[in-house]
Amino acid sequence: MGKLFICDHPLIQHKLTYIRDENTKTKDFRELVDEVATLMVYEITRNLPLEHVQVKTPVTTADCRIISGRMLGLIPILRAGLGMVDGVLKLMPAAKVGHVGLYRDPDTLQPVEYYVKLPTDVLERELIVIDPMLATGGSANMAIEVLKRRGCTQMKLMCLIAAPEGIKAVQQEHPDVDIYVAAVDDYLNDHGYIVPGLGDAGDRLFGTK
Ligand code: PRP
Ligand code: URA
Repeated sequence: MGKLFICDHPLIQHKLTYIRDENTKTKDFRELVDEVATLMVYEITRNLPLEHVQVKTPVTTADCRIISGRMLGLIPILRAGLGMVDGVLKLMPAAKVGHVGLYRDPDTLQPVEYYVKLPTDVLERELIVIDPMLATGGSANMAIEVLKRRGCTQMKLMCLIAAPEGIKAVQQEHPDVDIYVAAVDDYLNDHGYIVPGLGDAGDRLFGTK
């Protein structure tokens, strides 16, 4: 089963509190999501492999380490995943970005695919699937499935807030995918919203409601 990592650094939890607050307006909401995404990168990249290199300092030669292994790819699930991309890119500026467009049908809560565009070398990359909300898990599962169908094998899932139902769904369907979240909330309401959650992440990021 994929592991669940809860990124509970005090800075993340502090900022998440303001993200949840219904009085936080679009500009601040966007900035806070961006900042939390940057902070979560620290946890997500903790186990990246390192290789030894020698660097000539002004004083002597130093044995140092740099990141090795696969290059990274970010796969935001449109729309709301876009809100976390720049924050991640701040610490991984060389990562390529692919997009998977899905929306959740409001009646059935089933994800509907409308767009996929991936880097040409996606199969050589370790991927981070990005979406602020993991509710039923339907969207994350479909995005991971879209990637696997194209041959991708190494990926992690990064979300701000997850419902227990969504975590279970991803762990069942994709036991090879580790999940990184800033918080695990209580449950899903009758409309499939995470409780207490933050409302509709896409609408709050883009000011569409
Ligand atoms: C939201 C959210 C996830 C999905 C989570 O997107 O950003 O993609 O719902 O729900 P699930 O786990 O039950 O699938 P939404 O469909 O509202 O689209 P948007 O990002 O375009 O607003
Ligand atoms: N999508 C959101 O944006 N919020 C939720 O609470 C659930 C799905």
